[in-house]
Amino acid sequence: MACLQLLLPLMVSCVAASERSPRQLPACQVVQMDVFCSDLSLRSAPVDLPHGVRMLDLSLNQVQNLSQETLAYQNGFHHLNLRANKIHFIQPGLFKDMTDLRVLDLSRNNLNVFAHAKINIGPLTAVESLDLSNNGLYTGMSDYFLADSPSLMDLSLNGNSITKIAHNTFGGSSLLRRISLHNNVILEIEDGAFEFLNNLTELDLSKNSITCITDFNLCNLKVLNLSKNSVEFFHSATSVVFYKLTHLDLSENKMLYFPLLPRSNMIEHIDVSRNHLQSVNVTGGLEKRTQVYFYYLKHLDMSYNQLKSIPESFFHCMRFLEVLNVSNNCINSFSITNPGLLQTVKIINLSFNSLQSLTFGENTLPSLEKLFLQGNDLTTLDHGIFQRLPSIKHLHLQQNDLEICSSENEPQDCVSFTSIPTLQFLNLSENYLRILPANAFANTSLKLLDLSLNPGLEMDKDSLSGLEQTLIHLLLKENNISSLNTDLSSLKSLKHIDLSTNQLTNIPVWSKDSSIESLNLQNNNLVTLKYSSMLALEHSLKTLYMGSNPLSCCSNLDFLQMVQRSAVVVPDIETVTCVHEEYSEPVNIEKVTLEMCHISGVQNYVIAVVVIVLVLLIAMALLVRYCQARKRKHIRRFTA
Ligand SMILES: *[C@@H]1O[C@H](CO)[C@@H](O)[C@H](O)[C@H]1NC(C)=O
Ligand SMILES: *[C@@H]1O[C@H](CO)[C@@H](O)[C@H](O)[C@H]1NC(C)=O
Ligand SMILES: *[C@@H]1O[C@H](CO)[C@@H](O)[C@H](O)[C@H]1NC(C)=O
Ligand SMILES: *[C@@H]1O[C@H](CO)[C@@H](O)[C@H](O)[C@H]1NC(C)=O
Ligand SMILES: *[C@@H]1O[C@H](CO)[C@@H](O)[C@H](O)[C@H]1NC(C)=O
Ligand SMILES: *[C@@H]1O[C@H](CO)[C@@H](O)[C@H](O)[C@H]1NC(C)=O
Ligand SMILES: *[C@@H]1O[C@H](CO)[C@@H](O)[C@H](O)[C@H]1NC(C)=O
Ligand SMILES: *[C@@H]1O[C@H](CO)[C@@H](O)[C@H](O)[C@H]1NC(C)=O
Ligand SMILES: *[C@@H]1O[C@H](CO)[C@@H](O)[C@H](O)[C@H]1NC(C)=O
Repeated sequence: MACLQLLLPLMVSCVAASERSPRQLPACQVVQMDVFCSDLSLRSAPVDLPHGVRMLDLSLNQVQNLSQETLAYQNGFHHLNLRANKIHFIQPGLFKDMTDLRVLDLSRNNLNVFAHAKINIGPLTAVESLDLSNNGLYTGMSDYFLADSPSLMDLSLNGNSITKIAHNTFGGSSLLRRISLHNNVILEIEDGAFEFLNNLTELDLSKNSITCITDFNLCNLKVLNLSKNSVEFFHSATSVVFYKLTHLDLSENKMLYFPLLPRSNMIEHIDVSRNHLQSVNVTGGLEKRTQVYFYYLKHLDMSYNQLKSIPESFFHCMRFLEVLNVSNNCINSFSITNPGLLQTVKIINLSFNSLQSLTFGENTLPSLEKLFLQGNDLTTLDHGIFQRLPSIKHLHLQQNDLEICSSENEPQDCVSFTSIPTLQFLNLSENYLRILPANAFANTSLKLLDLSLNPGLEMDKDSLSGLEQTLIHLLLKENNISSLNTDLSSLKSLKHIDLSTNQLTNIPVWSKDSSIESLNLQNNNLVTLKYSSMLALEHSLKTLYMGSNPLSCCSNLDFLQMVQRSAVVVPDIETVTCVHEEYSEPVNIEKVTLEMCHISGVQNYVIAVVVIVLVLLIAMALLVRYCQARKRKHIRRFTA
């Protein structure tokens, strides 16, 4: 009942709003000659619309019948936004005399009803940009809007139900530059549908049902998006014409073979990720055609396919490639040995394959900066492989099974990270690493080192030497370390250290000039924190994680006060608890008071004695000063 009472006034006010007469000028905003009337439950533009309006925003209203009356008999608009109304009728010829109207947004209306009545909208004399997206239009219906649109350059038909593009669909709009047909159900494109559109540079056919592209011949097109279709093969027409295509998106299709691209091309980006590629061949049989050269190709994405290998020769025709993504395939061996290959490549993503062997020849990959190798089966690598990459900065080797060479032994079944002067970032987490030998990273410029999730890792006390000036981030979490014998205090640049989820009983020793800003000690075995170590950090530490440790309440009082008085943030303070013998449950660290830790027995007595002695001393000192003061007063009075 109460509910209904509440609802009723609400409903009444809604009805009132929707039937508001345009005469009572609603709260439109007028900024110079632009009028904003969005979301005001209007059925038409306000009648007292000032003259000479250039831009009218009537989006999100209740317009149903778009006529001269609805637009307050004005013709001078440059920009009309009628998105998200209920338009199902447009007065034929309405836009004929709007010779300044460049932008017309009719998206999210019910224009399928209008088209169903087979009425023509009439000439779109000056319209350059038209949005007809989400109008329930199906095949052929766009004709009623486009038949006479001589100035149209930019058209969106996204989110309709078009199944076929006929050869004459765009016959009335020959200046089109960009067509968006994203999210329709296009199965068929008739020959000649786009060919005569000489100015067409961008075609978005993503999210449709296209199964193949044969004889692709749109040589002026620059961007072609075929993502999220069911394309099985893509063949360009055999011709010697120069194609201007730069971006081809074929991601999320069913391609079995690499697309066959035009011989004369300037393609820069090819995306064939998430397809069914099993090889980089362009057809099933022997390659009939001569090699296509990709002189402009910079970015090639073939991730999420079923590639088992990539022959080195595949890269012969890609001289200027910069980014290669072949992650998430089934590649078990990758090798680049020819020094002329991939001279400009900066990023190679080979993550999540089943790599067991990786080979880089001398003087190959001179520009490679980032190499992603995580999630493979790498156990043995040529121990000097990374020293051969003169520009390498980032190495992602997590989730493999590597061992690190020690400098004394003959390198065998291990990989070396010393003497890679450019190396800044190294992730070796989850590698079943057992031993971290001395000088493991000497002569690198490592800023970040992740050694987490290598339980049982034995770190030599000099394992991090050489990183004193460079290392900023060190991650050692989940390593089952019970005591850290590596001296971290010499790492002068170290700012962030993660020691969470280990078995530490002591915190590492730091010197006063440490620059640690964040320290994670969560989930260890810390009972008593060495106060001098914590004090050394006080001036630099900003963030401290301490939760899930069996801290003792009363032996860390100094530390507690430090947390209270300094600017250290303890984000997990809710879980920082300590053990107190008088309490059965752990006590939250914020609730610990000095009184709780009243020291008992002999200690209490000692303190009492100390306090009494102190009080006596102070009293004596005061007495002495008082006497002296009186004496001075005497003297002063005497001389005065
Ligand atoms: C739309 O409005 C015009 C003029 O106001 C009127 O002639 C026409 O019948 C209306 N059409 C519909 C479908 O309501
Ligand atoms: C459209 O293409 C024609 C040639 O077919 C060219 O003359 C004209 O300048 C182009 N127009 C625009 C706006 O690019
Ligand atoms: C192609 O369309 C998809 C949306 O379906 C979009 O995510 C992607 O960025 C587009 N690709 C290009 C090259 O514009
Ligand atoms: C790819 O083509 C080569 C010949 O160029 C052929 O030997 C090989 O079997 C082909 N691979 C597949 C998977 O079709
Ligand atoms: C492949 O890697 C490149 C470069 O690292 C990246 O830009 C792209 O998004 C990746 N592709 C996918 C599908 O994640
Ligand atoms: C490597 O590729 C995977 C997808 O295949 C992507 O998620 C990841 O972001 C890529 N790495 C980089 C650094 O681009
Ligand atoms: C290292 O790799 C692991 C994945 O195994 C990831 O969780 C972690 O965030 C990476 N470290 C850094 C610093 O990016
Ligand atoms: C680091 O480089 C110096 C000078 O090049 C060299 O003497 C030293 O042996 C190198 N250290 C290691 C561990 O490779
Ligand atoms: C962690 O170290 C303890 C000894 O400190 C050992 O008993 C335990 O097995 C180790 N756990 C793992 C996962 O290595």
